[in-house]
Amino acid sequence: KGKSRSFYVCEDCGYSDGQWWGTCKQCEKVGTMKRFSEGAQRKVSGFEASENALRSWLPQHVSASAPIKLSDVNSQINELSWRISLPGQFGAEVERVLGGGLVPGSLVLVGGDPGVGKSTLLLQIAALISEGNDTEDSARVIYVSGEESVEQIGNRADRLRIVTEDLFLYSSTDIEDILKQAQVFSPRALVIDSIQTVYLREATGNAGSHVQVKECTSALLRFAKKTNIPILLTGHVTKDGEIAGPRVLEHIVDVVLYMEGEKYSSHRLLRSVKNRFGSTDELGVFQMSQSGLEGVSNPSDMFLSEHHSDSDYLAGLAISVMMDGSRAFVIEIQALCVAGSSVPRHVNGVPGSRADMIISVIVKQAGLKLQENGIFLNVVSGVHLTETAGDLAIAAAICSSFLEFPIPSGIAFIAEIGLGGELRTVPQLEKRINTLAKLGYKKCIVPKSAEKNLSEMHSEGMEILGCNNLKEMIHTVF
Ligand code: TYD
Ligand code: MG
Repeated sequence: KGKSRSFYVCEDCGYSDGQWWGTCKQCEKVGTMKRFSEGAQRKVSGFEASENALRSWLPQHVSASAPIKLSDVNSQINELSWRISLPGQFGAEVERVLGGGLVPGSLVLVGGDPGVGKSTLLLQIAALISEGNDTEDSARVIYVSGEESVEQIGNRADRLRIVTEDLFLYSSTDIEDILKQAQVFSPRALVIDSIQTVYLREATGNAGSHVQVKECTSALLRFAKKTNIPILLTGHVTKDGEIAGPRVLEHIVDVVLYMEGEKYSSHRLLRSVKNRFGSTDELGVFQMSQSGLEGVSNPSDMFLSEHHSDSDYLAGLAISVMMDGSRAFVIEIQALCVAGSSVPRHVNGVPGSRADMIISVIVKQAGLKLQENGIFLNVVSGVHLTETAGDLAIAAAICSSFLEFPIPSGIAFIAEIGLGGELRTVPQLEKRINTLAKLGYKKCIVPKSAEKNLSEMHSEGMEILGCNNLKEMIHTVF
């Protein structure tokens, strides 16, 4: 059948292939394969061939492509529907967040705070891909770092006990240089650590500036699409919680993953915030160790082991889930009621007026005699609660401390409290509960009105308990 798809021709010897190669399969010259589509054959000796081969993937503001027939597009998609699989328990957690294996030609961004473990994660992924399938001709992977020397990466790999013949390390910050190397190697995957350290000579500004980050990412995207080599990037999160400042980066790439971890815990979460190839509700759970990240297949064990056994579980501690944009975070609220304290109220992480209101509602609507108590409230690890979904957890923590009755572990609270003591529903309830379920929580108290919409949650091992008001919550829990 007559295919009018694009193909690749070696500028030097004329060898043609349906696939792009960094090294011509016939004459073994490097970087000579150029892309053509049928009907444009005369361009072989025309402007495109005469252009610097390395410049063709740099950001071009005039689109050179033409409309493509739907059937051709679809046959191309089928060809691309295979994914690079990541074996093992660690690989399984990464695949879960990616929505399957790594898609060839995709651009994946892993964001997170400095020190959270992004470099470690990507080095492990790179090693896994390079070890992978020996049925393939080439499983070479290049790991480029703009932050560390080759020796430093080597040391890290030693510590992670990575032994593979096909992992290549490179230290560079020049995007053109990096892509030139990648073109020569035609690797299975390319890792760049980090996007803030690389620069494009043509673009203005220093590495890490808005323009540089955007232009470099566009260049990488073009390269990935053209060569079908998947690229994994790391990006630091700035103070305002954005990767590299501009959100624009997230629009360019195919997949955005965030790596998170709590300060005093050794577990790391990998969350997909954007995914062109899968769902964004996925959560990968890892355990940090001396020899790197290990996949945790049963997070509930991990969660429970972190806390004390029920007998010494502390009174005054309650769990809720906060949303930050599209991301859900589990938060812990602590309360301490001290009878006859001279300090009436001390609040940390919750707006004072909100705390006053919740305390007054507990006194008035649930009949707890908090008046003679000093109340201390704290959101663990310095988080600031900006939404009302944590109201019920605040109330539960106060009640727990006042009644000196610990809340059994594995229960979470998500609801807003009204002045009448009634529980109100909050946005993205399902997403919040999903996060809880994946972390091994077993029960969640929600407003009665929201209970019926969440009935399918029961099948995932999460018990949903609907309550109309504060009193009902107290009867259910205490
Ligand atoms: P690193 O991967 O360098 O974080 P990032 O690239 O996000 O800044 O990891 C930070 C430190 O944590 C580093 O010194 C290695 C250590 N670490 C471990 O010891 N074990 C692990 O499993 C991880 C993820 C990190
Ligand atoms: Mg790093």
